[in-house]
Amino acid sequence: MDDGEIVLINSEKCPFISGDGFSAVSDSLSSAENTAENRLLWAPEIDQFQLKNYQTGESISVTGPLPNIYKDCRHHVCTSTLMSLAPHANQNKSNSSNVIDELESHSVDYIRKEAYDYLEIFHKDKNTSEADYKKRLEQVELEIEHTRSYVHTTDEIEYGCQLAWRNAVRCINRLFWRDLTIIDRRDVKTNRDMFKEICDHIRVGYNNGTLQASVLLFTPRARIWSTQYLRYACYEQADGTLLGDPANRDLTKAAMQLGWNIPETRRTQWDLIPIIVQVDPNEPPTWYELPQDLRLEVVLSHADPKYDAAIKKLGLRWVVQPIVCDQAFEIGGICYRCVPFSGWFMETEIGRNLCDIQRYNVIPKLAALLNLDVTTAANSQLNVDRLYLEVNAAALYSFQKAKITIVDHHTAAAGFMKFMKQEAILRGNTPADWVWLVPPISSGMSSLFHQEMLNYVLKPRLLSQRDPWTYYVPFLEHKQNLTLSRENIRSALSTTELRISIHVLYASASGTAQSYAEQMVKRLKITGYNAIITELDSYSFEQTNNTPAVIFIITSTFGKGNAPEGGQKVEQWLQNVTDIGINNSTSNMKHISLHNNPFQSNEINKFPLHWCSYAVCAIGSSAYPFFCGFGKLVDTSFQLLGAHRLASFATCDALNQQYKSYNEWEENTVIALKAAYPYASSREKDIRLSTLSRPPSMSRQGSYVEQQVNLIKPFRPTPSTLIFNTNNSETIPSEPVGLFTKENPYLATVLQNIELTGSDNSINDSGRQDHRALSLSENIQPKKKVTIPSSFTNASSDQYRSVRLIVLDTTDLDYYPGDHVCILPENTLANVNGVITACGWQLGNKLLIAPCSLASYTNGKYQTLRQILTNFVDLTTPLRPHTLNIIATYAKNTNEQRQLMELGKGGQRYTDWIVNSPTVKETLEMFRSIQIPLEELIQLLPPLQPRYYSISSSSNCYPNQLHITVSVVTYTTSHGVLRKGICSNYLQQTLPKLSPDGKPIHSTFPRKPSRVRLFISPNPHFRLPGQDSLSISMTRQMLSGGDAFLPLNSPLLMFAVGSGIAPFRAFWQELEFLEQSQGSVQVERILFMGCRSSSDFLYAKELQSLTSQRGESNKLLTAIIPVFSRENAVVKRYIQDVMLEYEDMIYSILNDDNAFVYMCGSTRSCQGIESTLASILQSCGEDNLTFIQATNLVKQYKQFGRIKQVMFG
Ligand SMILES: Cc1cc2nc3c(=O)[nH]c(=O)nc-3n(C[C@H](O)[C@H](O)[C@H](O)COP(=O)(O)OP(=O)(O)OC[C@H]3O[C@@H](n4cnc5c(N)ncnc54)[C@H](O)[C@@H]3O)c2cc1C
Ligand SMILES: Cc1cc2nc3c(=O)[nH]c(=O)nc-3n(C[C@H](O)[C@H](O)[C@H](O)COP(=O)(O)O)c2cc1C
Repeated sequence: MDDGEIVLINSEKCPFISGDGFSAVSDSLSSAENTAENRLLWAPEIDQFQLKNYQTGESISVTGPLPNIYKDCRHHVCTSTLMSLAPHANQNKSNSSNVIDELESHSVDYIRKEAYDYLEIFHKDKNTSEADYKKRLEQVELEIEHTRSYVHTTDEIEYGCQLAWRNAVRCINRLFWRDLTIIDRRDVKTNRDMFKEICDHIRVGYNNGTLQASVLLFTPRARIWSTQYLRYACYEQADGTLLGDPANRDLTKAAMQLGWNIPETRRTQWDLIPIIVQVDPNEPPTWYELPQDLRLEVVLSHADPKYDAAIKKLGLRWVVQPIVCDQAFEIGGICYRCVPFSGWFMETEIGRNLCDIQRYNVIPKLAALLNLDVTTAANSQLNVDRLYLEVNAAALYSFQKAKITIVDHHTAAAGFMKFMKQEAILRGNTPADWVWLVPPISSGMSSLFHQEMLNYVLKPRLLSQRDPWTYYVPFLEHKQNLTLSRENIRSALSTTELRISIHVLYASASGTAQSYAEQMVKRLKITGYNAIITELDSYSFEQTNNTPAVIFIITSTFGKGNAPEGGQKVEQWLQNVTDIGINNSTSNMKHISLHNNPFQSNEINKFPLHWCSYAVCAIGSSAYPFFCGFGKLVDTSFQLLGAHRLASFATCDALNQQYKSYNEWEENTVIALKAAYPYASSREKDIRLSTLSRPPSMSRQGSYVEQQVNLIKPFRPTPSTLIFNTNNSETIPSEPVGLFTKENPYLATVLQNIELTGSDNSINDSGRQDHRALSLSENIQPKKKVTIPSSFTNASSDQYRSVRLIVLDTTDLDYYPGDHVCILPENTLANVNGVITACGWQLGNKLLIAPCSLASYTNGKYQTLRQILTNFVDLTTPLRPHTLNIIATYAKNTNEQRQLMELGKGGQRYTDWIVNSPTVKETLEMFRSIQIPLEELIQLLPPLQPRYYSISSSSNCYPNQLHITVSVVTYTTSHGVLRKGICSNYLQQTLPKLSPDGKPIHSTFPRKPSRVRLFISPNPHFRLPGQDSLSISMTRQMLSGGDAFLPLNSPLLMFAVGSGIAPFRAFWQELEFLEQSQGSVQVERILFMGCRSSSDFLYAKELQSLTSQRGESNKLLTAIIPVFSRENAVVKRYIQDVMLEYEDMIYSILNDDNAFVYMCGSTRSCQGIESTLASILQSCGEDNLTFIQATNLVKQYKQFGRIKQVMFG
């Protein structure tokens, strides 16, 4: 059936549309009877129609359903008597038992069409201006295009709720639809807050007895498991009988499966089931007991003492208010699963609840007390009817006595008749379900019994949905273990067809993106999807069979917006097939071809990734100019190559709560995946979902009990069984050979470890030199008077900060000045031992140093638990939220478990917690009930990542050596805890082979010099001119070529801040070496050096000797301009301040096409320098640039490699 077709819920057999009154049916059938499908359907294209009331003889003149709204019936038989209507239009999916999944898997076209339908209704009914209407349509269009969905405004949602009530075919009380109050709480994010809102909702609805119709609206995917807020439990007893309200048998079971319980001896037939809420279908539900003041019930009594006594003896009662929470609300193509609706009772509802045989079935009990015969034999005496009536009377009497709103069925029916007539005038008609509207008591006495009605669907609407516990994965797993029913087999077969392969691809230099990818895979597995993790370059995009696949890419960015290792082949490919360069997301495709895979069809050739749905999460740092450049390239080019973007692209900034942005992306992406592939989730046995072995106990807190129950134990890699090879003792890692990488690092011996700061660092003990002593070029003079430090030796009283020169023996290791070396640090002994003991091991246990099976986890690199803890896992970085969630499942104490799970949400509590940077050891000590096996902990921890250091030596000057300048990180947290950076402190502690003056160290005790694991990370973007192969090829094309770009020929302007001097030391060594072989070239080489005081002026002596040994006209560095930020006690001066004083000189260098600008230091200082360069371009240039134009010019310089940066983060 097509959308838009007008049909009714009917059949030839339907009693309500067959017969004389429906002569129009056959007329209209003639137009539709051509197709077999439509043969039984009735499309009323009549102008006017009479609905007769056979009691009064009156007729209501209706005009039939509105064609553009009414389109949703698929049934060829009348389904009015079904308790739960299958509400959906798409017959192809009618096999699905999950109505909501059907709704949520709607195509964008469906959502758009429904949205337009509803917005039109809203516009017309609310009389909004044409301009506002148009604007809103555009807004929604845009939102749908980008997100495949859209968000309703509060006004839209409010009116939609009212309309859904107005359209509710089975509700008799619709006369009051305009009075419905809507409480919009779509912003609620936690189960706890959901429950709080529910409590408030009960108060609003109760309104001191004058019940108020109201709707509480949560986020679309939230669910309340309770069918109504106030429901009586039903217990299955040992003797096979039921205690309580049988309607709630399954709900009670579900609540008990979640851990709620009442001891058998205290159970009654009137126990209220707790409220069970689930704000997110991917998170476990939580149950909450209602506070005493909200357990609102009316104990029944009767005006006639005879019945009163019997009713009281049975303790009959009912809750004050129906608050229905299992209906979904569909509006404009969007489905809200959680819209609890509070109204008031019609007395027959209470009568039925108490009297229905399948419910409390109180009539036989009342009869026994009243000595009435209600057996079949006594039918003629109508005793059943009498008692039934009296129970209804008792409900009315008791509620009225308690001053609580209630309506009798006659009044309600009259109200409905009024509503129906009003609607005929206002909308032509109203849909109505006779079967449900006619009261169950004395039906013939109600006008509704005699009233003809038309039953059809109008939207917005309320509709049935599956009970959440029927598809809650942990329950299903449990059930599946018990039995694989035929039904399950069938559904398993149908889901297999729709299953799709999901790949999580990562490219990561230092492990961040990789660990997020691992987290994503775990999350997908928990959610029920099987996903495979692969490094980006190892994934084959050459799909020959066009099998659809979902690909999630999580990648970092390096260099100038480039791919990190492991993504560079794909980067090359994407750049080849599209025209997209770094930071250019708008270019078109160049030519498309996948290597070795010529596509047959032209269309496919044009869109080689048409088979793929994808989402990209880019990890990067806004400190760099091409923020998340590679992630952006992947996202844009995938679209160009025909891939379908499944979820929004996200950037996660290392400088701004990266983990939070990642978690949000993961969340949204999983939701989008579920919407697009609801059936693709695997229920295979390898999904390791299990409940906690010990259910948490119930504890009372304040007025209600909160219980986080049935924690899902998140998926963990199957912990390798820990086996020891006690025949072998601790092994020494073998000498690495070949290409040195993170996995196969070079082992370098520490030759020297020298302190660079302090009074020893003075350039010249006697020399009272002003800075001009180092500003050797006559034409480089400050424009204004520069405050010159009085002396290099004037050590300030600044807090001591250690900076070390580490000299390493690196025979046969190639590198260029400007390259980085990556150092793999080691965890401190104290940290390692702390973790070992926190996991219950004795430090002296020999097994800690025996080769063990976990070695395979490190690719055999580290053999023993101690080696693995020392070298392989990160024990210092605070645990990520995801890991805390897993760790929570090891906590034996419920309170600690809850706290850990709260931290695991990654919200504000987590942010507050990590302020102190707790280590793994401290976390285990903080939550002492965590009992986690050491081997499982190891497998949860992220790998210890290498740290970058700019190489501070030239291999030409120091063959077989590599120098680094390490600023030792120590800081105090805002809570006063002293912290030490792992790698810099590790390097500081290394034992050198030689003393600072280069002589072998003589020691009374045997000592071995330390060996440091490292590998080179080439950085062509920061090399000297002529040594940077990439930039030279680019600049040669643009500028006059020749020798202009050889290292010695280019003017250099260098800015170093603190340990940012590191790469410049390599530069000056290299330049000196080149000068010796090639002769000197006189060009400006100016170094600005920012440090706190003269004692921090790193390599000052070396610089001094560099200048002092040469003549005035022969300086390697033509000017060295030190800037001591703290030597002037009153005003701090930074490089930026001094730069302005040299603006003419800086401007002239910037204007020299041969010149290159380098800066190195912290992100903040580099940004400051960059912005000052823009100011100088603005103020010195003759083009009257605005600051923005000048900033853009600086950006261009950076893009062309004229300005180069290394930022330490
Ligand atoms: C390309 C590149 C080149 C680099 N070159 C050099 C170099 O030549 N010399 C050099 O010394 N460093 C250099 N670094 C920095 C170096 O890589 C390390 O980041 C640095 O040594 C700290 O590492 P760590 O292991 O000692 O500290 P970690 O254990 O990694 O701790 C550092 C972390 O501690 C926290 N932290 C630090 N100070 C504070 C504070 N005051 N308040 C709160 N939190 C704080 C921050 O979160 C910081 O990220 C370079 C970095 C990059 C990216
Ligand atoms: C040398 C270097 C260059 C970088 N270049 C960029 C860059 O151009 N753009 C960016 O967004 N981030 C850049 N970053 C930041 C990294 O992408 C960021 O630190 C990220 O968290 C690293 O993730 P990974 O460990 O998965 O590789 C750079 C980092 C370093 C150390």
